[in-house]
Amino acid sequence: MNRIGLLTSGGDAPGMNATVRAVVRTGLDAGMDVLGIKRGYNGLINGDIDRMGPRSVSNIIQRGGTILMSARAEEFRRKPGRSKAIHNLHVHGIEGLVVIGGDGTFRGAQQLLKEWNGKVVGVPGTIDNDLYGTDYTIGFDTAVNTALDAIDKIRDTASAHERTFLVEVMGRHAGFIALDVAVAGGAEIALIPETQTTIKQVAEALTENRSKGKTSSIVVVAEGDEEGGVMHVAAELKKHHGIDTRVCILGHIQRGGSPTAADRLLGSRLGAYAVELLGKGKSGVMAGEINHKLVA
Ligand code: F6P
Repeated sequence: MNRIGLLTSGGDAPGMNATVRAVVRTGLDAGMDVLGIKRGYNGLINGDIDRMGPRSVSNIIQRGGTILMSARAEEFRRKPGRSKAIHNLHVHGIEGLVVIGGDGTFRGAQQLLKEWNGKVVGVPGTIDNDLYGTDYTIGFDTAVNTALDAIDKIRDTASAHERTFLVEVMGRHAGFIALDVAVAGGAEIALIPETQTTIKQVAEALTENRSKGKTSSIVVVAEGDEEGGVMHVAAELKKHHGIDTRVCILGHIQRGGSPTAADRLLGSRLGAYAVELLGKGKSGVMAGEINHKLVA
């Protein structure tokens, strides 16, 4: 493998830059040319592709976001878009690709592999932690800590005003962020898509807590919970149970910020491992870590 390409795609995640750095430096160390592709698969379609040297990734390990930028590439979902991408892969002599992203990114990679004779290795970069084949995805730990920091602050005002807060966290269809944040933040209730909890049950638990002397509560709501969104939960609690709440949607704040040590380490290990896998001729796999062991 002489020349590899690298892209970040889908929702950005803290630690993607650490991963990019590891891919570039490991690739160069192995004697490969490393080409950075901008804005995910859009960069492949538009030929937004440049050589990366060792200094191109200096001073980024501590930065959130991704220096390669990211996108959800609609055009790549369709054959003509992918044909343009494959043309550019040939023009630039790219033999192997490292794609850093989540499930959408990997669906794109699988489709690409059906139409292109190069090799592709995935690296799990998403705050959602919703990928098979790794204990943790890059960005999850930082997102949990960011949300936790917010919840600790909300706890202060909730306690001062003896209020109940509903805090919505990201995770798309998965409740990993919500569950970890709820346990680590001592939340009273967590609503996650993996379990069914009705609004009536929430109301009963809150009322019981009050009767036992608890004056404030935090309910963590995963954005993908089956109850249909935090605003709906708040409205129903008020309408049917007379429970007044305050709502806080943490949103994209969870995607930003300097990555934790855990995410920098995970990104560094998985980025280096992805290049190693490509060097060994592997393709159609994701670099993951299970029980502290690197796995494909
Ligand atoms: O997949 C990461 C994620 O942040 C999800 O948690 C969230 O549902 C989604 O992306 C938001 O996507 P966008 O940034 O495109 O609004």
